[in-house]
Amino acid sequence: MHGYKVYLCFRVLLTWCLVVAVAHQVVEKHASELDLNCESYEDGIDWPQVRENLFVFLRRPSGDHPFLDSLFAIGRRKSDCYIGLCCLGYLAIVFMSPEKRLKAMSTTLFGSVPLWDQIPLSYWDTINSKWPIFGLLEVLQSQMRDPSSPAPAHADGCCDRMEELDQRFHKVLDRQLAAGQFIPAQSSLRYLAESPSRCSFGKAAAYVALGERLLLVGSPVLTQAAKDLLALGEAQLDRCAVGRNATVFEQMQSAWPTWYSSPPLRPATSLPRPDRAPPQRLPPDPGAVGTATTEARGVHVALSGDDRHMEGLLAALQSLVLGVSDARRVCVHVFALQQELSGLKAALGCSFKDRLAEDEADPDGLFVGGVAVRIHIFTESEVLSDEMAVDAGVTVEAGDLNAPHNFVRFHLGKWIPYAQRIVYLDTDVIVKGDVCELHDSVFHHSHTVSGKVLAAVPRRHLPLSFYLKVFSPRMPIWVPSSAPSFNAGVMVIDMLAWAEHNVTGEVLAWARRNKNRDLWRHGSQPPLLLLLYDRVEWIADIWNVDGLGHYGNRSSELISKAKILHWTGPLKPWLGSLD
Ligand SMILES: *[C@@H]1O[C@H](CO)[C@@H](O)[C@H](O)[C@H]1NC(C)=O
Ligand SMILES: *[C@@H]1O[C@H](CO)[C@@H](O)[C@H](O)[C@H]1NC(C)=O
Ligand SMILES: *[C@@H]1O[C@H](CO)[C@@H](O)[C@H](O)[C@H]1NC(C)=O
Repeated sequence: MHGYKVYLCFRVLLTWCLVVAVAHQVVEKHASELDLNCESYEDGIDWPQVRENLFVFLRRPSGDHPFLDSLFAIGRRKSDCYIGLCCLGYLAIVFMSPEKRLKAMSTTLFGSVPLWDQIPLSYWDTINSKWPIFGLLEVLQSQMRDPSSPAPAHADGCCDRMEELDQRFHKVLDRQLAAGQFIPAQSSLRYLAESPSRCSFGKAAAYVALGERLLLVGSPVLTQAAKDLLALGEAQLDRCAVGRNATVFEQMQSAWPTWYSSPPLRPATSLPRPDRAPPQRLPPDPGAVGTATTEARGVHVALSGDDRHMEGLLAALQSLVLGVSDARRVCVHVFALQQELSGLKAALGCSFKDRLAEDEADPDGLFVGGVAVRIHIFTESEVLSDEMAVDAGVTVEAGDLNAPHNFVRFHLGKWIPYAQRIVYLDTDVIVKGDVCELHDSVFHHSHTVSGKVLAAVPRRHLPLSFYLKVFSPRMPIWVPSSAPSFNAGVMVIDMLAWAEHNVTGEVLAWARRNKNRDLWRHGSQPPLLLLLYDRVEWIADIWNVDGLGHYGNRSSELISKAKILHWTGPLKPWLGSLD
């Protein structure tokens, strides 16, 4: 029995070394050296046989295959057969312990990069290379879903949409896959037709299913169409994240099959026998519910406020954590100046005590009740140009609008480049609702269709003319004076649309034009109103019950329904100015 354990340890160690060795060779390789079939290689390895064996393995992953050890040995050799080595690398990961496997997929070149960086081939070419990369990835994905494995944190909430429409199609997929049947083309088509134009993993799966369906018909005309459909599926994956492609690991965490959607092409899903990869659970750790990397979390919330409002920030964070339905989805980004950092950390420590855990992977990362908290240090000059400063008078009247923290909202993409949308909150709020609900409730149409950049609550009683000098002869553009304004202290930003409209650049350009206060007086809100007043999706007023710092007289009915309370104005409960 003891000898057997030693054997297993040895085996796990061996496969780990193999992966590291292959990863090493993988970096050195260059796409132009690809010879897909590897049949011409004179490296003494029978690559066609290797490939054949991989297919035998995939037909019955749980079987006892005598060739496995020789495949592991080949994986450790040097060769130019790039794809072959990648396959053997993935095979080694299949036989790792669940913890090692999770680590290999989330941190090594096998999983932490987009598939395109790993195998620079289209889906079409990958399938035609005849190397079963997708099949091996499918097996790895099933292993990760196995309840006895340590659960990878849930994947990105934006790509993995699961609304009613998606659930219906997902059910069809599940049922057909379980029965070994094709996905009816009609189901895929209907789902695609009804889905919003935004990208999603579900739509990728639908396109891939359609493509595979046509591919298996085998007619040359349909084959061309299949190729196009597969490319559409890939494009869905490519555009899910902002400015980058989803990583293999992210794809693997998805609830959708994004490599194959047709049973005839998929490997058998029976998993390798557990005695080859003994399941071991990680010891429970305080941050365990929140082990997703910052980037993999789908709901990003930005909180920015200066240390005068530290207690506001703590209260906002505390309330947000209490209200959130799925802590694992949420990452809160807190912004601080260097000199505020130690105070902030100390304050977090004493407010949250044992509910606070450090993120071992990230010195600036913490977990509060499972919600990831990431602290970003910024400098004043990064966010605040001279033109942005406000008149001294306003500072007293409306709270400290001059604090650099107020201008962080214009530059969020710099610190959170991977977020598709960001919920921005001032620190003088109390969140009574679920911030995930706010995040998920907006932008059901792609910005290319809707033209919307922000979602915010309208302030119908405060028209644009209240903030902007719309009638000034120096106002270079026409602005509808009586259109409603909005408060930019609670908003959801579509980061793609924001980038596309160059909002950061335009805000700075407008601030320069406003040097002499010809266009507006107050700080950070007016340029957003000016630029985006007609690009805002209105949300229900319960999401920003504001003005609490001006008057104590908001109706109690509204306050009781409120999902976010907002103390705009000079009176903040934590400054002791309210009785
Ligand atoms: C994303 O992947 C596609 C291929 O699927 C590739 O053409 C593109 O360059 C990749 N984009 C980035 C930003 O890496
Ligand atoms: C963004 O806007 C600024 C100001 O108008 C301009 O100088 C800059 O070139 C723009 N950037 C892009 C990428 O369009
Ligand atoms: C609250 O008070 C302000 C200022 O005193 C007043 O203008 C406003 O109409 C009041 N609102 C309500 C709902 O009573």
